[in-house]
Amino acid sequence: MLDNQSPIPLYYQLKNFIEDQITAGLWKPGDRVPSEAELGTQFNISRTTVRQALGELVNQGVLNRAQGKGTFVAQPRIRQGLTRLTSFTEDMQARRMRSSSQVLRLECTVPPAWVAAALGVREGGSTVVLKRLRLADDTPMAVETSYLLYPLCASVLNEDFSRYSLYTVLTEKIGLRPSRASQQLEAVACPAEEAALLHVRKGSPVLHMRRSTLDRSGQSFEQVESYYRGDRYIFYSELAVE
Ligand code: GLP
Repeated sequence: MLDNQSPIPLYYQLKNFIEDQITAGLWKPGDRVPSEAELGTQFNISRTTVRQALGELVNQGVLNRAQGKGTFVAQPRIRQGLTRLTSFTEDMQARRMRSSSQVLRLECTVPPAWVAAALGVREGGSTVVLKRLRLADDTPMAVETSYLLYPLCASVLNEDFSRYSLYTVLTEKIGLRPSRASQQLEAVACPAEEAALLHVRKGSPVLHMRRSTLDRSGQSFEQVESYYRGDRYIFYSELAVE
């Protein structure tokens, strides 16, 4: 029950109640939450108060709204550490999720200027570009575009990346073992093309990532641009003083 006498606003108490139900596993991912009217009656509060609580939980990604169907408990997010150099395939395997990819582009191309500069490609020179939609248990999670040194990585043009991991192919076929990487992350509004692929609304928050991957000798062989779903990922790192 909510406490009318408490200095904590009623909408906030309702939010806490809903989050507690989810944390306790009483409301599971995909469950439909009671309607505004039902919650209003159950807690004897106005629909405006219920709407405020549900609206904030939707904005936080705890709940999802499906037009005409109701409000549902969102799927839990993937907690992705930011200290180990891993591949998407490994990350999903570690979570016992099935990773798959849709290959959107695999060809030889003149790269954008930031890629050319980072890979040391001369003006007009080429790279291999591999653009994929990455899925976990058949849910779209990220759109990744990898630019790879050419001609060093030319043989990947013949590989089937709907089935195979790029890092496995690079290691096993070319002897290029990803050894270190630097990465930057920023929040952006999802562009239209990526939104359609990721099944999110255009302009919804996504994490835009750029990665430079280096081999053991310190040479960068891969520049990656990715869009990760903001509603499905939490990136975290552990910090220490020295
Ligand atoms: C992660 C990284 C990408 C990298 C990819 C390789 O998703 N963010 O930069 O290209 O892994 O994944 P896989 O080896 O599964 O194809």
